[in-house]
Amino acid sequence: MKVLELENISFSYDGGIPLLKDISFSLEKNEFLSIVGSSGCGKSTIIKLIAGIEKADKGKIKGLTTGYMPQRDLLLPWRTVLENIMLPVELKKKDKEEGKKKAVAYLEKLHLAEYKDKLPHELSGGMRQRVSFLRTLLTEADILLLDEPFSALDAITKEYLQKWLLDTLKEFDKSIIFITHDINEALFLSDRILVCKDKPLDSFAEFIVPKDKEENVDKILEMKKEILHIIRGDN
Ligand SMILES: Nc1ncnc2c1ncn2[C@@H]1O[C@H](COP(=O)(O)OP(=O)(O)O)[C@@H](O)[C@H]1O
Ligand SMILES: [Mg+2]
Repeated sequence: MKVLELENISFSYDGGIPLLKDISFSLEKNEFLSIVGSSGCGKSTIIKLIAGIEKADKGKIKGLTTGYMPQRDLLLPWRTVLENIMLPVELKKKDKEEGKKKAVAYLEKLHLAEYKDKLPHELSGGMRQRVSFLRTLLTEADILLLDEPFSALDAITKEYLQKWLLDTLKEFDKSIIFITHDINEALFLSDRILVCKDKPLDSFAEFIVPKDKEENVDKILEMKKEILHIIRGDN
């Protein structure tokens, strides 16, 4: 079942040079879809269009509700972890007590309860990203839009959080669009990868990643080579 569909989307900032030209793709329920491409190809813009922060010049976007985790960590420095993750609840003017209970339950479920009264500056980079993710989860949106959530982390923390993300997602009924410029990360996490081809972006190369990754190492390495070729533009 499709949970999101982009049809023939075109977009440019302030009527300038076209950035996206007639692009279409969809997301299936419970799918983990990554979009990879070089810096500036329009990945964040696609996410902002889906989140409704920017508006397409042409085309249609249809689908279920989305929760957006921006590229930069946007935790409010004067608010504790708990107060930060309760933001979506407050913004929706939902019952605050109910919201707090839910936020605490999520923190417990993800073994982060001991951090609930800490301020963002007291947390490691990896922990801040987990908190940002949790806040996105608490929007209760069906689709999570994650824009390079791990790109600023060191390699070890990054690998740990990638596994953490996959484990966490097993507990929730979500569909994911994940932006990255890290091909290994995309191959490790995704069911499917869309690779940005030309600029302006008018189509993607699509790769279906084998389900059992350990059994298919050769296939995945081959895929990595192909993706590198496309991104470098020497295909
Ligand atoms: N608000 C904006 N106004 C004008 N140009 C922008 C704006 N945001 C991004 N751009 C430009 O659009 C292009 C694509 O940006 P972006 O979607 O952020 O790329 P990516 O996430 O793939 O690195 C870049 O050239 C960038 O400079
Ligand atoms: Mg970006």
